[in-house]
Amino acid sequence: MAGPLALAAPQLIDLHPPAADMRRLVVSGMERQPRQLPAWLLYDDEGSRLFDAICRQPEYGLTRTETALLEQRAPELAQALGPGVLVEFGAGSARKVSPLLEALQPDAYVALDISAAHLLQACRALQQRHPTTPVLGIGCDYSQLERLPAHPWLEQRRLGFYPGSSIGNFSPEEAVTLLRQFRKLLGPDSRLLIGIDQPKAVERLEAAYNDQAGYSAAFALNLLNRLNRDLEGDFRLEAFRYHAWWQAESSRIAMALISRKPQTVTLAGQRWTFAAGEALITEYSVKYTPDAFGQLAQRAGWRSLQRWSDAQGDLSLHLLEPDDGRSSEADLEPDSGQQHSDR
Ligand SMILES: C[S@@+](CC[C@H](N)C(=O)[O-])C[C@H]1O[C@@H](n2cnc3c(N)ncnc32)[C@H](O)[C@@H]1O
Repeated sequence: MAGPLALAAPQLIDLHPPAADMRRLVVSGMERQPRQLPAWLLYDDEGSRLFDAICRQPEYGLTRTETALLEQRAPELAQALGPGVLVEFGAGSARKVSPLLEALQPDAYVALDISAAHLLQACRALQQRHPTTPVLGIGCDYSQLERLPAHPWLEQRRLGFYPGSSIGNFSPEEAVTLLRQFRKLLGPDSRLLIGIDQPKAVERLEAAYNDQAGYSAAFALNLLNRLNRDLEGDFRLEAFRYHAWWQAESSRIAMALISRKPQTVTLAGQRWTFAAGEALITEYSVKYTPDAFGQLAQRAGWRSLQRWSDAQGDLSLHLLEPDDGRSSEADLEPDSGQQHSDR
């Protein structure tokens, strides 16, 4: 019998990029020097599962710190966001959004992710925890989306949510383009709440991306499995080792698979030669100080309204609104390590 739990079946719209796009992107990434593939390729079903395992590792504090900050600040965040539909970019297992959903009670929750099967599972689990919130999943590459699909739940004021410092996977120039894209997708009178990981001691950063249990390595190596499966590759995983290191000049962690010896692989119908020690970059993670991120957001047409940091200053949550030409945040005071109002 249909009752109050009648909403407990989330909807999914799958707009996954066509296989031809993946082939083109991989070939162009393999032609780069150093070779670099788009980070979203790391997230097939197994990659999404391995990413969750990374988040549980003792060295990887980002998830625990951001989750705690969201729980602690949820009522303030909800008040600052105001009414509307909550749209999360790169939702993954959608584990961070619950405190916001409880405090905000949005008209609906819309989760976007490239890993569509994993997203559907995440939406189902979330719907169980929040049976009265309409939940919609959209399987897509959010960086390539022209517009959000037509759907009655999206015909509201849109509130973007982009946690996990995922913007760090894009170069600063690409990040500006992405933030402009989010502005377009979210529309006027929107808000964007975004989580940013900050530079910190090199030992802590390198430990976080080289966890002892080996999940970061397994996550990167799984990319080769994916390429073997989806693009007729013949990578041998044991011929590569994983390494992550801090590049101070670019304020980023580089993550790469390093060829253990000279070798030739077949991929996407072509032969590719690797020298011994040659890197295939699997992803970068750019770290921003709060002020550096504020400037980046401003270049993309977003104005900083408010920001919150954890007590240690490890990461910050920034609340942005579309900049309609009013004064910028150039005269911001330095972050106090706690809540910071930019008004
Ligand atoms: C670093 S994880 C963050 C997951 C979660 N938001 C969190 O904070 O723990 C990045 C997530 O974004 C998704 N993703 C990465 N690139 C994407 C893209 N271009 N379009 C859509 N989803 C993407 C991945 O599948 C993954 O779930």
